[in-house]
Amino acid sequence: MNKNITPSIKYIGVDDTMLDLFESQYIIPNGISYNSYLILDKKVAIMDTVDRRMCDEWWTNLRNALNGRIPDYLVVHHMEPDHAGNIAMVLSIYPNLKIVATTKAIAMLPQFFENIDFNGRTIAVNEYEKLSLGSRSLQFFMAPMVHWPEVMITYDSTDKVMFTADAFGKFGALCYDEDWVSEARRYYFNICGKYGIPVQAFLKKISSLNIKHICPLHGPILSGNLEYYINFYDTWSKYEAESDGVFIAYASIHGGTKATALKIAEILKENGAKKIVITDLSRDDISKAVENAFYFSRMIVAASSYDGDVFPPMYDFLHHLKLKAYQRRRVGIIENGSWAPSAGRVMKEMLCKMKELNIINSIVTIRSTIKEGDYTALKALADAILK
Ligand code: FEO
Repeated sequence: MNKNITPSIKYIGVDDTMLDLFESQYIIPNGISYNSYLILDKKVAIMDTVDRRMCDEWWTNLRNALNGRIPDYLVVHHMEPDHAGNIAMVLSIYPNLKIVATTKAIAMLPQFFENIDFNGRTIAVNEYEKLSLGSRSLQFFMAPMVHWPEVMITYDSTDKVMFTADAFGKFGALCYDEDWVSEARRYYFNICGKYGIPVQAFLKKISSLNIKHICPLHGPILSGNLEYYINFYDTWSKYEAESDGVFIAYASIHGGTKATALKIAEILKENGAKKIVITDLSRDDISKAVENAFYFSRMIVAASSYDGDVFPPMYDFLHHLKLKAYQRRRVGIIENGSWAPSAGRVMKEMLCKMKELNIINSIVTIRSTIKEGDYTALKALADAILK
């Protein structure tokens, strides 16, 4: 894909539809795009490179967009290899090109590129500093921890374009026409979820700018009603739920815990729960489960006991939630145990380490299979979670 965002700014990024797992962990059924842009003014600036996997295609896009011109600057917003993968290649082709980045990003360069002399090849920029390209200036804003510490964003006040690094990105290659929000939400909570406070600071910083186009490092260029996207980012980074429904996540070995999860879903429905989503943590995508945990205001976790602990798919899920700063939700616990139930204790201990969770005190215990005698406790849990 090669298209103009404005007459002076061109998209030169690439789609990757062959990658099995993004960051070696996230499924990407519709691939991913690594975005890169070119600004053609009196001076020419490349805005980030792409993953090394897609070097050839990106180089072709860059050369075509340059149309014989020589780039002066490579602006590096983020040093993660899915964007910075071709820095060494570009430096070797253009001996006068300078890297423009934060001091922290410049310090990281030798970590990723050995045996390259960066002396005299970099320009470190600070908060609000400007770089003139001729008829326009680029202004830089520090955005530490929007995803990594060295991140910055860039504003072009002439074309009113904001280059936002990973912020506002989504899974999904640009060759797929799909809804922004669901894959942007799964992307946000799994990539940036831990960094709500830095994302809030970033949103505050850009709030006074007149922006027409948001150019992230993944996913589509956003134009039109930008409030729509910014409002989602505001909600997500404040850790506010989007739905009053209940998310039920279960980890079941032989089906007894699964049957219990389905039963409580039935009771919740009878009790008027607005929306219920159930996930099998052994089989369903864990990044979607993380997204759903944040999406809903209430969650019930149900797991089998295992080796005096909790069945590992649940352990893994709760560990993910802890990493992503899961907080401010109402949570109920169901455990299953055939001889010495331990899952409830472990889940509660893990949940207690998360911030501002309202954990329902009484854990429902099932012995191997759900029986009519368990219904009273499940009904009490359903009442408590919906309160
Ligand atoms: Fe797309 Fe944090 O890199």
